[in-house]
Amino acid sequence: MNHLHYLHRCLQLARLGGQGAFPNPHVGAVIVYHGPNSVKGSGFRVQGSSEQSVIIGEGYHKQYGSAHAEVMAVASVKDKSLLKDSTIYVSLEPCSYHGNTPPCTDLILTHKIPRVVIGGLDPNPQVAGSGVDYLRAHGVDVTLADDPSPFIDLNRRFFVNHYYKRPYITLKWAESQDGYIGGRDSEGTPTQVAITGNNVKAFVHRMRASHHAIMVGKTTAAIDDPSLTNRLYPGGNPTRIILDRKGVLPPSLRVFTDAQAPTIVLSEKETKSAFPHVKRHVMVPWPAPIEEILAFLYTDLRISSVLIEGGANLLQQVLDAGCYDEVVRFQGKGEIGQGVAGPVLPRDYAFDHHLMMDQDWVSMKKRVLSLS
Ligand SMILES: NC(=O)c1ccc[n+]([C@@H]2O[C@H](COP(=O)([O-])OP(=O)(O)OC[C@H]3O[C@@H](n4cnc5c(N)ncnc54)[C@H](OP(=O)(O)O)[C@@H]3O)[C@@H](O)[C@H]2O)c1
Repeated sequence: MNHLHYLHRCLQLARLGGQGAFPNPHVGAVIVYHGPNSVKGSGFRVQGSSEQSVIIGEGYHKQYGSAHAEVMAVASVKDKSLLKDSTIYVSLEPCSYHGNTPPCTDLILTHKIPRVVIGGLDPNPQVAGSGVDYLRAHGVDVTLADDPSPFIDLNRRFFVNHYYKRPYITLKWAESQDGYIGGRDSEGTPTQVAITGNNVKAFVHRMRASHHAIMVGKTTAAIDDPSLTNRLYPGGNPTRIILDRKGVLPPSLRVFTDAQAPTIVLSEKETKSAFPHVKRHVMVPWPAPIEEILAFLYTDLRISSVLIEGGANLLQQVLDAGCYDEVVRFQGKGEIGQGVAGPVLPRDYAFDHHLMMDQDWVSMKKRVLSLS
């Protein structure tokens, strides 16, 4: 039997879940009947599968709090008596605990499904192998995919959250041909310089829409006065996070006056906020090690992904600490001559994806997740 064939169908189904599943992972499930007689009219054959194997049910997790993929797949089976001669394929280990919904392992036992094939183990400590153990302890034949990487990759953010106890981190900046991300005035104060063209903007806003939060350093907030909202792509606004040690950033900045997104300011001491959408949190010691800031964002504020938009100081800290999962670098066609140098990538770092937008280059790389 070609397990991979059906597991890949699970991946296709899982992706249909889109943003609705968040913060739950994307999961897809397929039920395949391998009974002695083919089932006319109650399923369809997959090209390349054996004569006797017929998909009789499919499902995926659509919405946080709603039925899991296994439940949807079982519900879609017309003749439930076939389940006892079937295999359920699922891209992620079935849950074995009561959350918003009852355990999927119990559903499998109730319907006497004898075989389960799983893409990847669930990193959530409430599951983490206990689903497999529970099923095996109750006589179910459980097989794990030889290579879990496509199943981990499907839920990169979810895996990073649970393994590293921090948000999924994407670094993004734009630099000139000669490697500067900003200018400097005659007194050496950083200044804002336009580096890329308008075509890049919608791409950046798409990145914003797909992250839970955006973070910038104090100097960027003060000099660029960005709104950090998503205005050009369907989807919501991320939460804005600003590092401002003394709480001295002027209240006239857009992140404070524009209430379209929540703003979180991290400072070393308690400061008052004049705006209801602005929340302030104290962190000591200061400057806070970036790893601690990220752990705080995940553990205390439940922030699951952060797009770090600069400046160089903040980006370099994250690069040096190695706590990032994706890098997106834009390169404009012009030169600045002198200014704020762009962050320095690790030696031998090589982007693996490049595309051109008008006259600007976009270079990207996702870190291969080595989870052990
Ligand atoms: N081209 C681009 O993509 C892009 C993007 C963003 C910015 N920029 C440019 O970059 C320049 C600003 O960059 P920058 O490197 O000078 O500054 P930055 O990274 O924006 O801000 C640095 C400041 O943020 C605070 N901070 C950073 N990390 C911290 C930590 N771990 N703990 C506590 N506080 C922390 C500190 O401020 P305090 O200690 O003083 O509170 C620090 O001095 C500007 O010219 C801007 O236009 C360019």
